[in-house]
Amino acid sequence: MWDKIDEINKEIDDFTVETAEQLEQFRIKFLGSKNVIKDLFKLMKEVPADQKKEFGQRLNALKQNAQKRFDGHNKTATSSTDKKTEKPDVTRPGFPLEAGTRHPISVVRNEIVTIFNRIGYTVAEGPEIENDYHNFTALNFPEEHPARDMQDTFFVHDNGQAPEKLALRTHTSSVQVRVMETQKPPIRIIAPGRVFRNEAISARAHCIFHQIEGLYIDEGVSFADMKQTLMYFAKEFFGKTKIRLRPSYFPFTEPSAEVDVYWGLETEADYRMTKGTGWLEIMGCGMVDPNVLENCGIDSEKYSGFAFGMGIERIAAQRFGIGDLRHFFENNIEFLSQFKGA
Ligand code: PHE
Repeated sequence: MWDKIDEINKEIDDFTVETAEQLEQFRIKFLGSKNVIKDLFKLMKEVPADQKKEFGQRLNALKQNAQKRFDGHNKTATSSTDKKTEKPDVTRPGFPLEAGTRHPISVVRNEIVTIFNRIGYTVAEGPEIENDYHNFTALNFPEEHPARDMQDTFFVHDNGQAPEKLALRTHTSSVQVRVMETQKPPIRIIAPGRVFRNEAISARAHCIFHQIEGLYIDEGVSFADMKQTLMYFAKEFFGKTKIRLRPSYFPFTEPSAEVDVYWGLETEADYRMTKGTGWLEIMGCGMVDPNVLENCGIDSEKYSGFAFGMGIERIAAQRFGIGDLRHFFENNIEFLSQFKGA
């Protein structure tokens, strides 16, 4: 019986505690609810009466030793476990790297640019802050044209020292002018970019949006060439083969037209998107007005051409089924991360 006490005491002293697990084993064995010291207390009734006191004291000392050891190990074991025994597990999968995603507007713009690249169009760019001449005058906008009105245009208020009136461009057609001024036909460009209009922001309109403009100038370019080019685009981008041109008006093209693609009326969504007509309006176009060619120093007797322009947001909204244009400008990560791999 007394030997048992010595034995357990030795066991307590010799117990190796290096990890949190071993520490827990120690606790269960010597301090837990069914520990070995408690078992010894049960033997008390077998101890002769005159030895009971000493036996009790020895057991208490044993208990205290166990507690002391435990407290000591507790400090070293927990602080050393992580470092010493938990080697990194090299077979565990790594943390996923969050790859960025392209903005849906960029996705659609790149696709449109690629489609026109294939038939010889190259990208042209121009400034977002434009003067009145490139945004309006050269494009044959009469002085009193309502598009020049304060309601549509964001004017840039200068300190009175700027040589000319500046505004944020209201369309990418200003790039046409800049290209025609500096390049000789044949010209074949596509001009994507941001444009600005002073409009109330809603689900269907925004004061900032993106357009993509096309321009083709050469000898003998006809309306039929334009139609063929637009049919090619409709087929490549939408996978649709039927388009129609509705007469329209733009100051810088004559004749002018709106382009609709035939979308079909197969599903509920088709009905909603085409307002029950089956036709989806995608862009404006027309033959470049001879006045515009002359304004830009191109001989309108010798050369002719066509231009077209479309809003990227509308096409992107259609492509991705987005009901509210404001999503494009809010930079909401949850919204944007849906376009992984698009
Ligand atoms: N600039 C026109 C607009 O913003 C679109 C357009 C471009 C129309 C080129 C005809 C030719 O509405």
